[in-house]
Amino acid sequence: MKATGATGTGGGRALRVLVLNGPNLDLLGTREPSIYGRETLSEINAGIAARAAELGVTVAFFQSNHEGALIDRLHARDFDAAIVNAAGLTHTSVSLRDALLAVERPFVEVHLSDPATREPFRKVNFLEDVAAARFVGLHGRGYTLALEELARRWTAGLLPGRTGEAESSNG
Ligand code: DQA
Repeated sequence: MKATGATGTGGGRALRVLVLNGPNLDLLGTREPSIYGRETLSEINAGIAARAAELGVTVAFFQSNHEGALIDRLHARDFDAAIVNAAGLTHTSVSLRDALLAVERPFVEVHLSDPATREPFRKVNFLEDVAAARFVGLHGRGYTLALEELARRWTAGLLPGRTGEAESSNG
């Protein structure tokens, strides 16, 4: 049995994952490195892309500092599942939560730090109760763990869309 390859295809078409990053994550590498580490977003994305290639998963990346741009990207519905680090919007955005629910795609919530162990306002979280899984406090490793979890669920038939039923949008 091969150790890698085709995990994300599950014998059918390839899983399509959108990696969505919110405000200020474009500054990773230099932004508060004692909290977020020294890895840049490009380096994190390169690691995700490498793992995705091993798993046979198709991956797209989007980062924005603008709430509406993130919501518009979700509305494209050109993915089966998402990995979402909403950054500060995690703690404020009803609209982003609504968009994630509206597009009917499962998502894994990722944070480089563990917000629940930081300032009290970061304990407010508009996404955690609707996330399919969460990886927090693991820096860049959380994204690849999220990808592996989605690939595992896809292969096991636990995500919608594998047989084509979630292919079309509602609109
Ligand atoms: C973060 C945690 C958030 O509280 C913060 O606003 C961020 C980054 C993280 O990845 O640890 O911008 O999402």
